[in-house]
Amino acid sequence: MPCIVELIQGDITQIQADVLVSAANSGLRGGGGVDGAIHGVAGPELLQACREIGGCPTGSAVMTDAFGLQERGVKKVIHAVGPIWQGGGKGEAELLKSAYHASLMLAESAALKSIAFPSISTGVYGFPLEQAAPLALEVAGDFAQNHAKNLTKIIFVLFDQMGHDVFQALLET
Ligand code: APR
Repeated sequence: MPCIVELIQGDITQIQADVLVSAANSGLRGGGGVDGAIHGVAGPELLQACREIGGCPTGSAVMTDAFGLQERGVKKVIHAVGPIWQGGGKGEAELLKSAYHASLMLAESAALKSIAFPSISTGVYGFPLEQAAPLALEVAGDFAQNHAKNLTKIIFVLFDQMGHDVFQALLET
């Protein structure tokens, strides 16, 4: 089956996908933004599972059960750690791509069929959306074309209209 990349505007916790990706910190300590929203619905067991893992390097990702999100049809949560923007000269682009790629590899190896991403690093971590969006779509597009065996759907969930418009314009070109 071919793998498609699609966009949705809204709250990622409302999306039915086999796995939701959270934009986590390297200590996996939970936080605000999309991480807060996912932990809020999944419940305290998710934070406990993160504590047991202990941490995750920037540019990588780890996977846990979905706990309270299971009621919504979500099987797993991937905690991806994007880079903190420091002006662009500290390998931020490669680290961001690597966080997306690591997440896709985890989903694929767990034989999951659909994955929903937020726009990693573009909130608290300050990565400019206009620079992050093409990187995110590049990794997803390459994965969909060349590596996806089990995955049939890669969804980007943009919280606001502006983010959605930026991704949409790129997807159309
Ligand atoms: N659904 C989808 N996207 C969301 C949601 C949501 N419910 N809430 C926020 N977002 C969007 C933001 O608008 C932003 O575009 O997710 C994107 C990423 O923003 P952050 O959540 O701030 O993530 P990031 O920039 O990667 O910073 C990570 O923030 O909360 C902490 O624990 C987290 O320390 C880590 C840091």
